[in-house]
Amino acid sequence: GSCLESVKIAIDTGYRHIDGAFVYYNEHEVGQAIREKIAEGKIKREDIFYCGKLWNTCHPPELVRPTLEKTLKILQLDYVDLYIIELPMAFKPGDVIYPKDENGKFIYHETNLCATWEAMEACKDAGLAKSIGVSNFNRRQLEMILNKPGLKYKPVSNQVECHPYFTQPKLLEFCRQHDIVIVGYSPLGTSRDESWVNVSSPPLLKDPVLNAIGKKYNKTAAQIALRFNIQRGVVVIPKSFNPQRIRENFQIFDFSLTEKEMKEIEALNKNVRYVELLM
Ligand code: A2P
Repeated sequence: GSCLESVKIAIDTGYRHIDGAFVYYNEHEVGQAIREKIAEGKIKREDIFYCGKLWNTCHPPELVRPTLEKTLKILQLDYVDLYIIELPMAFKPGDVIYPKDENGKFIYHETNLCATWEAMEACKDAGLAKSIGVSNFNRRQLEMILNKPGLKYKPVSNQVECHPYFTQPKLLEFCRQHDIVIVGYSPLGTSRDESWVNVSSPPLLKDPVLNAIGKKYNKTAAQIALRFNIQRGVVVIPKSFNPQRIRENFQIFDFSLTEKEMKEIEALNKNVRYVELLM
């Protein structure tokens, strides 16, 4: 229920890009929030940009379209604006989202990312996804798709971890050259949940430089971290269930950082991920 409320508050605040996934188990709430706001006359469907994701257990090409259709049924929407391959590795297909063997090891599955991509292209041709992209792909994996014989559509975006402690300079440059938008997840340095976050890296929002720059503009470290990325062309998808912070994270369009400040923030890069995705 908290997701339904948060998405409604976000839409009222002005957010239009919603980053979702089947594995977040809340697409029914997101869809309901969007439909309620449309019914209220607050927005039209075309104002919203919904991104859905193809999970690891659904990489075999014949599963791609049915999986997207399942997401659309849960959302009760006719199309997604963007559909992306969530991770470049496949798990054993089936109903178990994290399939493991008796020793607790993930059961992987051999698939061909290029064949999965062709099935993604077919989803776009069928009008079920307006655009298609990828997530957590490195340069080599992007090149595999870009160099695929008979490529019909390039990935429009690559969603990866990106924030002042992990600025992704090389991947950002490569993606710029190929017109691939970087969408930065964990733009606030994510939560401190040790079950999936590498907490050996210090909390981003406590950073003295971000806080000092924030003081100058009467902004928080979170707002400076978000502004830094949008100002260099990286899309940000901050997450919050807190109404005040949802609004705070949107108040980043009424100031800009100087070139010197951008450089200072870039220099904070530690090349350490919070989300290591050890799987
Ligand atoms: P909460 O939901 O209680 O606001 P990321 O977007 O990098 O994944 O970070 C999400 C985490 O950051 C969540 O734990 C969220 O908690 C917290 N958070 C979101 N916005 C802010 C903010 N403006 N200031 C401090 N923490 C925030």
